[in-house]
Amino acid sequence: MHGIFITFEGIEGSGKSTLINNVAAALRRAGQDPLITREPGGTSLGVALRKVLLNPEMEKLGSMAELMLFAADRAQHVSQVILPALEAGQIVLCDRYSDATIAYQGHGRGIPLDVITAIDNYARSEAIPHMTILLDLPAETGLTRARTRNKKSMDSSESRIDEEEMAFHQRVREGYLMLADQEPDRFLVLDAREKPDRMAGLVMDGFRSRFPDAV
Ligand code: TYD
Repeated sequence: MHGIFITFEGIEGSGKSTLINNVAAALRRAGQDPLITREPGGTSLGVALRKVLLNPEMEKLGSMAELMLFAADRAQHVSQVILPALEAGQIVLCDRYSDATIAYQGHGRGIPLDVITAIDNYARSEAIPHMTILLDLPAETGLTRARTRNKKSMDSSESRIDEEEMAFHQRVREGYLMLADQEPDRFLVLDAREKPDRMAGLVMDGFRSRFPDAV
């Protein structure tokens, strides 16, 4: 595997998509050809799973079934998209990955972390992120931002997880911060309330210091 695998994490409304686009643009200016992808939804199976996972009418979907669907999305995404791109030497920028499963299904929903890591180890196989950007912000700020955005969008199927209460998102945020504490070399934690340009610059600084030969 010659490529570089970078994942972006954070609670709803943390601004991941904007940051990923800005980082991709900076990498292109530096002569790279990054692949942007996301979970759930990075393959055609993933697009179908995403519709089920984010459907507000899917209220009977239990936590374990939900975990398995995220794992199915990941297994397909890793084998069909992520590993081939890394093997071809590309930089892969992925909007959410294994840390989301630990934070949401583990800390958020309460599934034991050893169950999650066991399932996730199969789903992700060798595709382990080299660097993870955590966009941190208070749950209240994130949810307010996400709700404003969802009201503007026509697609109410995207709002199921957003509708869950503040306490859930506070647990998710804490879960992410614990993961970052455990692996300070992999994680770069940014304050999501910073200006987008500054955040992209900080990611590029972190990238250059970790991979000095890449750009
Ligand atoms: P995303 O599309 O990134 O939503 P947003 O843009 O609102 O942040 O993610 C969709 C939802 O899926 C989000 O609520 C987090 C959730 N999720 C999990 O619960 N577990 C996972 O493993 C992944 C990848 C996502």
